[in-house]
Amino acid sequence: MSLLIKGGTVVTADQTMRADVYCADGRIAAVGEALDVPAGAEVIDAGGALVMPGGIDPHTHMQLPFMGTVTSEDFESGTAAALAGGTTSIIDFVIPDPQQPLMDAFRTWRGWAEKSVADYGFHVAVTWWDDSVHADMGTLVRDEGVNSFKHFMAYKGAIMAPDEVLVRSFERALELGAMPTVHAENGELVWTLQQKIKERGFTGPEGHPLSRPPEVEGEAANRAIRIAQVLGVPIYIVHVSCKESLEAITRARLEGQRVFGEVLAGHLVVDDSVYRHPDWDTAAAYVMSPPFRSKEHQAALWKGLQSGNLQTTATDHCCFCADQKRMGLGDFTKIPNGTAGVEDRMAVLWHHGVNAGRMTPSEFVAATSANAAKIFNIYPRKGAITPGADADLVVWDPKASRTISAKTHHQKIDFNIFEGMTVEGSAAVTVSAGEVVWKNGSLDVRTGRGRYVKRPNFSPMFEALGKLAARTAPTPVDRKLPTAAE
Ligand code: URP
Ligand code: ZN
Ligand code: ZN
Ligand code: ZN
Repeated sequence: MSLLIKGGTVVTADQTMRADVYCADGRIAAVGEALDVPAGAEVIDAGGALVMPGGIDPHTHMQLPFMGTVTSEDFESGTAAALAGGTTSIIDFVIPDPQQPLMDAFRTWRGWAEKSVADYGFHVAVTWWDDSVHADMGTLVRDEGVNSFKHFMAYKGAIMAPDEVLVRSFERALELGAMPTVHAENGELVWTLQQKIKERGFTGPEGHPLSRPPEVEGEAANRAIRIAQVLGVPIYIVHVSCKESLEAITRARLEGQRVFGEVLAGHLVVDDSVYRHPDWDTAAAYVMSPPFRSKEHQAALWKGLQSGNLQTTATDHCCFCADQKRMGLGDFTKIPNGTAGVEDRMAVLWHHGVNAGRMTPSEFVAATSANAAKIFNIYPRKGAITPGADADLVVWDPKASRTISAKTHHQKIDFNIFEGMTVEGSAAVTVSAGEVVWKNGSLDVRTGRGRYVKRPNFSPMFEALGKLAARTAPTPVDRKLPTAAE
């Protein structure tokens, strides 16, 4: 099986060039002009469009059991929607219940994900601690290609990891050469504010952001970053939504700490006025954590991306339909938290990032694939257009205009948080493992064609961290002890 994409402009995170891309056996075989290609290769004429690495969404939740229900999107429908939007890989989350062995949960999620139609990997959440968790983290890293562990600092009474778990797990992650990641919200404060806000008579979705103000996120982000600093571990903060978290990340990076931040397409363009929508279903559809923020925070998040203090973009794709959201009628704390976006992230980022002059096309590639691939140690297999890399590509038509709508999206959810937004720039063709899976507005995929991607541990930053720790390690003072006679 071979494929030639000709006539396009190749854009990677570090260069733009007129080149054809030849793919064979699922990989990129050659990049250049006037390539010598075997007769019979399938040919895609890019027609002057851009050829970029397929997107990597490092934060999705397909088929997630959460808050008493299960997301409406499963691994097959969700990865198909991703391909329709130019995203060719996702990193989803295995979330064990407290006391559930990590390996049990991992096997369950691997089973659910077998029907994926695009490539996928898993972060594994550490929701509790004992010796078996310590051991299972080792097995996951060494045998199963997991190189990142997630910690929820919120969701008290469910999956929240207290400081003790953070410390034990971060230490273990460092030992294993794996990246700790956190959902940063102070779960104790969220719980307290939820009670207070309910006492004040709030029952509707407008209570949700009141119970999760930016300070609650900033405190947790800063705490996780400081814990990581003391332990000498890198850290990745998921869904950074506010200035307070961004400030904690920026401060730490300026001090030389290896801290990484992810921003969601939704947090960049949707503001908190949605929670005051007069229609309950509409307001509830936007309930996710951390919540959408004011425009001031949005502006700061864009600057975070522009300055490089935030490196990745994701969606936290976590779909609940109206009937599921209605579990929280009369009590906003029971509305399942989550919103969709895996299909729209690339277009929203292109339109509001590149078209608005906030990003160059190469910066767009960095933020939508290359940086995630580097941080999670799958670069240049993913996120690059170079011989040997996986043939995961998107032919991007920067002039194609469309209006995002739940009526036309491929995501299995009855709502779209970007509804009515007209975006210029979209995926004309998506190629996954050398196969054309999206073209002329239609998908061509087989159930289970997606592959589980093992991610090696000890990315290069761990060697640097080890050297730094050795060079700056304090030494005890070698003293001659005074004797009793002296
Ligand atoms: O509201 C959200 N984000 N739901 C999914 C779980 C999480 O916190 O990422
Ligand atoms: Zn240990
Ligand atoms: Zn989260
Ligand atoms: Zn999430």
